[in-house]
Amino acid sequence: MERITSGKVKSDCQGSAQARRGALIGATIAGRSDSCQSNTLVDHLIGPHLAMGRPFCLLPALACLDHRICPPRLVAIPPATADTLGAVDTIRPVTLHDLPGVYGVCLATGDSGRDATGRYRNRDLLGHVFAGPYVVGQPETSFVVADAQGVAGYVLAAEDTRAFESWAEEHWWPLLRRQYPQTGGDTPDDHMIRLIHAPPTANDHIVAGYPAHLHIDLLERVRGRGLGRVLVERLLRTLRDRRSTGVHLGVAADNPNAIAFYRHLGFMELEREPGSLLMGLRL
Ligand SMILES: CC(C)(COP(=O)(O)OP(=O)(O)OC[C@H]1O[C@@H](n2cnc3c(N)ncnc32)[C@H](O)[C@@H]1OP(=O)(O)O)[C@@H](O)C(=O)NCCC(=O)NCCS
Repeated sequence: MERITSGKVKSDCQGSAQARRGALIGATIAGRSDSCQSNTLVDHLIGPHLAMGRPFCLLPALACLDHRICPPRLVAIPPATADTLGAVDTIRPVTLHDLPGVYGVCLATGDSGRDATGRYRNRDLLGHVFAGPYVVGQPETSFVVADAQGVAGYVLAAEDTRAFESWAEEHWWPLLRRQYPQTGGDTPDDHMIRLIHAPPTANDHIVAGYPAHLHIDLLERVRGRGLGRVLVERLLRTLRDRRSTGVHLGVAADNPNAIAFYRHLGFMELEREPGSLLMGLRL
């Protein structure tokens, strides 16, 4: 059975503001069943929040995939606030509930802005590499745009690229490395699995001047309506408030629309690599 060894338990997010803001910080979760493999998922999701002393509230959700041997468990979500943009579009901080939608957008834009669905046998791999770690590890600097059809875009960012890389080494990659052993193949899936085992790291001189980095992707149905600008400006405001001094990003050289968009918003070209471009903006 589930047991919280310290801290107060709230079963939903309607509790007091104090509970919402983190009366549960420092709570540790014990009493897990050894037979339940899905405990690892819960550790994966809650552990980082506990480790970083982040505000969260607990929901009985997601939890164990086999409730016959392990009762539903608690999952941490950061408190969300909402800015409403027009009648249907909402831009708000990302939450764990957005994971499926964010993974969907990542795949639907994952071929230099075009739909990558046909390229990958495994539909989760792109999201595991380019989206999931931000949703779980960097919710303070990651935002989604949602409409009546669900998540339609995001800007995902890490405020401190080096700290993010360390966090992912400890909390994100290990489980995926066990799930996806190295392959010797050369398919797009194999390439993503290689990135899981050897994720790219930013160069020191880039991080020195531009410590944050971002990814932005919108589904076609919401492009060209100013939402990309709103998302980036929301992120830049957040990074400035957090005293960040610069942000960088990588973009495929065969994605001229995105390159033009970034230039238009003030990003400068920092470096060219084979097939890609590094751009940055001082804050
Ligand atoms: C690139 C992307 C995020 C831009 O978002 P968007 O919502 O379509 O862009 P916006 O409508 O907010 O445009 C913002 C500004 O950039 C300008 N802009 C956008 N695309 C442009 C282009 N190709 N050339 C010149 N200017 C452009 C707009 O005119 C607008 O200018 P304004 O605000 O001064 O009037 C979006 O098109 C997208 O997600 N594309 C597919 C995924 C992708 O390529 N992601 C980047 C991977 S690195």
